[in-house]
Amino acid sequence: MNPNAAHEPIIKIENLYKKYGDNVVLDGFNLNLYQGENLVIMGKSGSGKSVMIKCLIGLEIPDSGTIEIMSQKLEHLSLKALDEIRADIGFLFQGSALYDSMTVRENLEFPLRRHISKFGNVKDTLPLVEEALQNVGLKNVIDLMPNELSGGMKRRVALARTLILKPKIIIYDEPTTGLDPITSKEIILLMKSVQEKYKTSSIIITHDVDCARVIANRMILLIDGKNYAEGTFAELSTSQDPKVKAFFK
Ligand SMILES: Nc1ncnc2c1ncn2[C@@H]1O[C@H](COP(=O)(O)OP(=O)(O)OP(=O)(O)O)[C@@H](O)[C@H]1O
Ligand SMILES: [Mg+2]
Repeated sequence: MNPNAAHEPIIKIENLYKKYGDNVVLDGFNLNLYQGENLVIMGKSGSGKSVMIKCLIGLEIPDSGTIEIMSQKLEHLSLKALDEIRADIGFLFQGSALYDSMTVRENLEFPLRRHISKFGNVKDTLPLVEEALQNVGLKNVIDLMPNELSGGMKRRVALARTLILKPKIIIYDEPTTGLDPITSKEIILLMKSVQEKYKTSSIIITHDVDCARVIANRMILLIDGKNYAEGTFAELSTSQDPKVKAFFK
């Protein structure tokens, strides 16, 4: 049993349904994310992982089901309250999504300005920007433009931009896609060190079995809109169920 199971989950999704026309994407999906854990979600392309994340952050409205983040039901929240919750959630989108016309420093300052309610009007952002870059192992990039960075460096800057908000929860959508194996490994270890240093709770969407092996405290396999299987990497990777086995080939 999960040692955290006695505690209230920091994110709780119950019976989530979402369809587009006749396309039933989420068909009774459930998820509990506990304090301090790395929860990996695996599912085929098109299985609804991104739709689930969009429901979670209020970008899509589910047809039914409930989502609670830090004991607050999303459907009851005002826009202002939703924005405050979002300040506690960091996202790392696939492909890093830096602002191309801004320097690294400006990219990192952007979330601080956007979430003034959480941070106040920070006058001197430089120490925060420097700390965030240091946390992801980057030096001498503060004045560079994104197009002057390698793919792995961009991913690090994006992670730094997420960390600068000191989020309680981090959601990673395909954090290692498009990176070579060595850089992937560096990013995975970085994610792990972030969790250990800041005690963040994370949801990690990935196809990358090596990533799951290193990072997952627990995993959910999303098949046909439901959590088809749940367990540790060791449990799922040794399953005899052909549908589960297919993920670990
Ligand atoms: N706004 C939308 N309107 C209509 N259909 C949508 C919309 N967003 C997603 N879908 C459909 O929902 C399904 C799940 O999409 P989703 O992006 O969640 O897949 P995914 O699991 O994230 O896949 P991938 O691994 O490729 O990122 C797909 O069939 C997609 O066409
Ligand atoms: Mg997706």
